[in-house]
Amino acid sequence: MLSSALLLALFATVCPTEAQSSTSTYVEPEVPTGTPIPGDYTGALRPQIHYSPPRDFMNDPNGMFVDAHGTYHLYYQYNPTDIVAGNQHWGHATSKDLYHWTNQPIAIYPGAEGEGIFSGSAVVDVNNTSGFFPNQTNGVVAIYTLNTAQEETQEIAYSFDDGYTFTKYANNPVLSINSTQFRDPKVIWYGETSSWVMVVSYAQDFVIGIYTSPDLKSWTHASNFSHHGLLGLQYECPNLVPIPMLTNSSLASPLTASNFAPDLNMYLLAISINPGAPLGGSITQYFPGTFNGTVFTPSDSATRIADFAKDNYAGQWFYGIPSSEPQISIAWASNWQYSQLVPTGPLEGFRSAMSLPRRNVLANTTRAPYTLLSIPVDLSPLYTTPSPLAHSTSANTSLLLDYSTTVPSGALHFSLTARNIPAANASGTANFTFLASSTGESLRGGFYFGGDTPFWIDRGHVTGFDNPFFTDKFSVTNLIDPDTRAFRLEGVIDRSLLEVFLDGGLRSATVEFFPQGKMDTMRVATAGLNPGVEVEVEVWGLESTWVAKGNATATTAGQNLRRDSLGHLGGGRGIDTLGRYLG
Ligand SMILES: *[C@@H]1O[C@H](CO)[C@@H](O)[C@H](O)[C@H]1NC(C)=O
Ligand SMILES: *[C@@H]1O[C@H](CO)[C@@H](O)[C@H](O)[C@H]1NC(C)=O
Ligand SMILES: *[C@@H]1O[C@H](CO)[C@@H](O)[C@H](O)[C@H]1NC(C)=O
Ligand SMILES: *[C@@H]1O[C@H](CO)[C@@H](O)[C@H](O)[C@H]1NC(C)=O
Ligand SMILES: *[C@@H]1O[C@H](CO)[C@@H](O)[C@H](O)[C@H]1NC(C)=O
Ligand SMILES: *[C@@H]1O[C@H](CO)[C@@H](O)[C@H](O)[C@H]1NC(C)=O
Ligand SMILES: *[C@@H]1O[C@H](CO)[C@@H](O)[C@H](O)[C@H]1NC(C)=O
Ligand SMILES: *[C@@H]1O[C@H](CO)[C@@H](O)[C@H](O)[C@H]1NC(C)=O
Ligand SMILES: *[C@@H]1O[C@H](CO)[C@@H](O)[C@H](O)[C@H]1NC(C)=O
Ligand SMILES: *[C@@H]1O[C@H](CO)[C@@H](O)[C@H](O)[C@H]1NC(C)=O
Ligand SMILES: *[C@@H]1O[C@H](CO)[C@@H](O)[C@H](O)[C@H]1NC(C)=O
Ligand SMILES: *[C@@H]1O[C@H](CO)[C@@H](O)[C@H](O)[C@H]1NC(C)=O
Repeated sequence: MLSSALLLALFATVCPTEAQSSTSTYVEPEVPTGTPIPGDYTGALRPQIHYSPPRDFMNDPNGMFVDAHGTYHLYYQYNPTDIVAGNQHWGHATSKDLYHWTNQPIAIYPGAEGEGIFSGSAVVDVNNTSGFFPNQTNGVVAIYTLNTAQEETQEIAYSFDDGYTFTKYANNPVLSINSTQFRDPKVIWYGETSSWVMVVSYAQDFVIGIYTSPDLKSWTHASNFSHHGLLGLQYECPNLVPIPMLTNSSLASPLTASNFAPDLNMYLLAISINPGAPLGGSITQYFPGTFNGTVFTPSDSATRIADFAKDNYAGQWFYGIPSSEPQISIAWASNWQYSQLVPTGPLEGFRSAMSLPRRNVLANTTRAPYTLLSIPVDLSPLYTTPSPLAHSTSANTSLLLDYSTTVPSGALHFSLTARNIPAANASGTANFTFLASSTGESLRGGFYFGGDTPFWIDRGHVTGFDNPFFTDKFSVTNLIDPDTRAFRLEGVIDRSLLEVFLDGGLRSATVEFFPQGKMDTMRVATAGLNPGVEVEVEVWGLESTWVAKGNATATTAGQNLRRDSLGHLGGGRGIDTLGRYLG
């Protein structure tokens, strides 16, 4: 969550219909209850396989858990009354596969004017430790920050129906230290001590507090993780998650249990910082380590950043995935420096999308010790065709793909693998370019096989948004794996989002871009590679998970494709005659 001072300044003018106690729901006439908010998912900038809110402003993912039916629940920081942050609720969506989402009614509302339901998490209380669930093993408890001008406190709410509707606990708050900078509780179950464990941020002290509880109601301070890594100006959105580690030092190993080291008890502590990220604004850092129920001990003193571009923040890991399996995360694919200014607001009535769902494990190689691997959840069920739209095995690849009519979603999954790269004197480049033929705009990236082996991305030739903080170029050094002598690039482009994953997820980047024309052509080119290097390129079209194929008027539950009367287009921020945002 962002700082309360900023948020309070941004609070929309709302018209309370009644003054109520903090345990009830504060009903604003323009915010629907009990029904999903409709959204138009057809816009030119609307991601087609990523989650984005039906309308208005979304930020951090919250409360992520898997229920007893295998349904993934994603809640999110949501302002249903404006296209900037403020008036925070918990929006809600559900999915069986993490790509096809159904918008659900807002799950948690503020209790009074001036309250905000800030970030937090959710757990399934299978053993009725809370006492809320006399006759069920699928009771859900949400743990979130209640923000007011006076204080940030931690509250809980419980759900009898798998997380669709919540009742706020009568004796809230459950954790209060008289601070305005104490937020974003993330709770897990720690079986060895039969205890709930919360990580929560003392944001401006640069401290992550670890608390324990037998019942989710009474919390005891256990330890502090203080002043580690990058500080920025605030610590936010901590996550503590058990995570498997690959035994095989080769990053080419598949993410299956047989490749995970047993009983290492590795945990990941992720801390988001905002503002003050190295590239500006917000980013997430992580610490690999061990956890014994009260104290998190990092494996080394290094600071690691999860993504090498700018648009990945406040990531959360699903509660309820067995610790022996790859954990699954989703992050907010934006940056506080410009998230409230991007042109999807005035043009299409919504702001921000979530990252792809990512499977995460740790790798521990000599040159990449304790590194988080991020790999998208299997995209192949979304492929538009049984074989790739484009496939090349030429070492001197020069591929041009016009997908303007073959892929209505505009979303592609692409990969480039180079093998037999020599151990010395490697040379050459491999690049990809997406082009908007109507405007000449381009989004580019590429890899240098020699020298410091940098991989780069350039969004500077996409012209729909201009802002001093909307950095053009990103790069990362990506050493060629000495065991496999291979380079692997995997990427997804989705209208206004690009995500790339290098070498099986050893490096990843999330990049927003806002074209004025439709990206419709892809070029992949290699040049100057050493003799004997083998290259394989594949490009797949992806079906929209929001709009039924070939039927732009189709309507599915909670996904009303007609623009509704509360679309909040415009938002008081003008656009010029080219549709360009006048920030
Ligand atoms: C759940 O907890 C409540 C309160 O402690 C208790 O009344 C109830 O019997 C419990 N139910 C079960 C099945 O343990
Ligand atoms: C729980 O089950 C008992 C026994 O069937 C029943 O008497 C009680 O009303 C149930 N409680 C709730 C909250 O459903
Ligand atoms: C809470 O903190 C504020 C600001 O520091 C202080 O004025 C107030 O007395 C504190 N309240 C309590 C109950 O300690
Ligand atoms: C539930 O109880 C079982 C049996 O005591 C225990 O093994 C397990 O860790 C508990 N899990 C949770 C989430 O309470
Ligand atoms: C933990 O950090 C908080 C925030 O700085 C501080 O108030 C508290 O005293 C610390 N607790 C311990 C035991 O160090
Ligand atoms: C590691 O995995 C690679 C690729 O699957 C395999 O070729 C290699 O033999 C494995 N090494 C060990 C030590 O298991
Ligand atoms: C965890 O480790 C800390 C520091 O070594 C120690 O003080 C604490 O007692 C341990 N807690 C448990 C539950 O083992
Ligand atoms: C990770 O790799 C380092 C360096 O090779 C090694 O010292 C360490 O034991 C490894 N960690 C684990 C948990 O295997
Ligand atoms: C790499 O290039 C250097 C300088 O041209 C040359 O001396 C060396 O033999 C080359 N190494 C290999 C393995 O080709
Ligand atoms: C890739 O892009 C770089 C930077 O613009 C350029 O120097 C290189 O020639 C390009 N390579 C190919 C194969 O297009
Ligand atoms: C690419 O083409 C050039 C020029 O035709 C050739 O010299 C080079 O060997 C080729 N590279 C590979 C890796 O086949
Ligand atoms: C499009 O979807 C609507 C609503 O489901 C349906 O009524 C209509 O027949 C569909 N049109 C086509 C061309 O499939």
